[in-house]
Amino acid sequence: MADQVYIQDIAAYVGQEVTIKGWLYAKTGKGRLQFLRLRDGTGIIQGVAFEREIDAASFENAKALTQESAVMVTGMVRADERAPSGYELSLSKVEIVHLAQDYPITPKEHGVDFLMDNRHLWLRSAQQWAVLRVRATVIKAIRDWLDSNGFILMDTPILTPAACEGTTTLFETEYFGEKAYLSQSGQLYNEATAAAFGRVYCFGPTFRAEKSKTRRHLIEFWMVEPEMAYADLDECMRVEEELVSYVVGRTLEERAEELKVLERDTTRLQAVQPPFPRISYDDALKLVAAKGEPLPWGEDFGAPHETVIGDAHDRPVFVHRYPAACKAFYMEADPCDPRLSLSVDLIASEGYGEIIGGGQRTASLELLERRLVEHNLPREAFEWYLDLRRYGSVPHSGFGLGVERTVSWITDTHHIRETIPFPRTLGRMYP
Ligand code: 4AD
Ligand code: MG
Repeated sequence: MADQVYIQDIAAYVGQEVTIKGWLYAKTGKGRLQFLRLRDGTGIIQGVAFEREIDAASFENAKALTQESAVMVTGMVRADERAPSGYELSLSKVEIVHLAQDYPITPKEHGVDFLMDNRHLWLRSAQQWAVLRVRATVIKAIRDWLDSNGFILMDTPILTPAACEGTTTLFETEYFGEKAYLSQSGQLYNEATAAAFGRVYCFGPTFRAEKSKTRRHLIEFWMVEPEMAYADLDECMRVEEELVSYVVGRTLEERAEELKVLERDTTRLQAVQPPFPRISYDDALKLVAAKGEPLPWGEDFGAPHETVIGDAHDRPVFVHRYPAACKAFYMEADPCDPRLSLSVDLIASEGYGEIIGGGQRTASLELLERRLVEHNLPREAFEWYLDLRRYGSVPHSGFGLGVERTVSWITDTHHIRETIPFPRTLGRMYP
C-alpha cells in the first residue's frame, strides 16, 4: 500500500503523486470523465478520472462507486483555482475498499428527526464535520490559555451528594443505598481546590435534567470552570474576556477552512477583542424594555431578552449584579445593595445568549448559612463547603463556560445539538 497523505496537507504535494484513503462524498459522471468528491476526515478534494488516462479497471471502479463507499485513490496533485479546495487530483488509480449500498443521507433535504436518528452517519456531512472540528479547537484553545495563565487542572467528581445549580434539574441515581446526583457543575469542589492551589479549573461533562426543549439546552453538556482565590467580580470579568477572545482568535487562525464551509461571517468574530461592554442588570432591564421585551425587576432573563441584549452589541456583553433571588445560593451579596448579587453572565451576540455564568462567591459563613435555608438546601451535605468559610475564607470568584453554547455562537450553528457528536436532548438518547 502506498503511503497515505491527508487532504489537509495536500498543498505540500503539488506536482507529486499521492494516495488518499477515504470515502466517496459525492460524484458527478460525464461519460468518459468521472468527478469524484473524496473525503478522508481531514477535508474534501475533487479527483478526476479520465478514461483515456487511467487503467480500465480503475475507471470501472470510479463509475461503480456509490455515496460513502470506502475508496483508495492515487493521483497527481494539481493546484486549481476553480476547484472548491484550490486543489484537484488527476487520478491514476481507484480501488474500492467497500461498496456502500443505499446510503440513507442523500444530497436532498432531510428532516431533523431523520438526521438525528442517523447521527452516527450525519457526522460525515461537511457541515457537521466543520462544526465538530471547530469544537475540538475551541477545547484545545481553552486548555492552552488556562494552562499557560497559571490555572491548575482539578478534576471534580461526577457523582455528587448535593445540588449546585438548583434542585429542579438534578439527575438522581443510587449510590450503595444513598441518593447521588450527576454533577451539574464542579464549582463547589473547585472553591475548595482554589483555596489549596490558588487558580484552578475543571473541565468535564455536566448534567441537567432540563425540562425545556430549546435550541440552547442540552441534558449533557461540557463546561470549563475556572475558580480563583483572591479575585473579585472585576477580575472575573477580565479573565472571561481574555479567555473568550483568545479562543475566538485561535479558531479564526486554525479553522478558516471550516468557517468557510459554514459560511460564517468572520468579520463578526474579528470584533471579539477585550474589553467587552459591561452593563448592570438594572441597565439591561431598561434596554430590553426599550426594545419591546419588558421584564419585571427580580426575574432572570429568558432567551428573547438575551437575544435583544446580545444584538445591541458587536461583541459579547457582560450583564452583572443580578438580583440575588434569581441566582444560585453561593453568590456574594453586593455591598452597595444587598438585594443584588455579585454575579455576571456573558451574553453572546447574534442571538446565541448566555455562554458564561459566574461571579464572586459568598465569603461569609453567616450569609452562606442563611442562603442554604432560603434555598431549601440540606445543610449536612454542605458542611464541608461551610468549612471553606471557617478556615481562611477569602474573596474568590469563578465562572462556567458552556462549550456547546460557545461553539454554536462561534460557528453560527442555530441549534446546540449539532455542536456535540452525540447530543442528549429532552426525550432523545439514541444513538
Ligand atoms: O450559568 P450556569 O448554570 O452556571 C454554573 O453552573 C456555575 N456553577 C458555573 C461556575 O460559576 N463555575 O452554567 C454555566 C454555563 C452557561 O452559561 C451555559 O453556557 C452552559 O453552562 N449551560 C448549558 N449548556 C447547554 N445546555 C444546558 N442545559 C446548559 N446549562 C448551562
Ligand atoms: Mg446561568
